[in-house]
Amino acid sequence: MEKTLVICKPDAVERGLVGEIIGRFEHKGLAILASDLRLLDSEVLGHHYSEHTEKPFFGDLVAFMSRSPAMLLVVGGPEGTVGVVRTLMGATDPTQAAPGTIRGDFGLAVTENLVHGSDAVESALREIGMFFPELGAGV
Ligand code: RTP
Ligand code: MG
Repeated sequence: MEKTLVICKPDAVERGLVGEIIGRFEHKGLAILASDLRLLDSEVLGHHYSEHTEKPFFGDLVAFMSRSPAMLLVVGGPEGTVGVVRTLMGATDPTQAAPGTIRGDFGLAVTENLVHGSDAVESALREIGMFFPELGAGV
């Protein structure tokens, strides 16, 4: 099974869209393997978004992602699941995201874009290990 880390970001939790987002993955046929509602701090976000630490939007991103709890999910399915989840999420900028995608249907702001999904199998393994270390190699 291929697994990926999804984060329903604070805007999604605040707006009551977690059920809708989880439903999209379930209706597609993917499995929810783990979940946890958690307040993320700037230290863990610095590791999670380490490729963005020098970007001009990094401060805004960390402030947004740590302002209220996020719902973390491990989502699993067949080979290609990492890409399937990214397709269901839509483009990073919700104003450019296609209708039918999560960001295309519910977002209007590039920072507050509702959902994170790992961008590759290797990132998924790293992110799942970081956020759910207790799962070990089992998930
Ligand atoms: P994510 O990592 O959260 O799944 O999003 P992504 O791959 O689609 O986009 P990425 O380039 O990795 O950017 C990470 C998150 O940073 C915020 N962002 N803000 N203001 C801006 O120009 C800007 N660009 C990116 C978004 O929350 C984006 O999802
Ligand atoms: Mg990314």
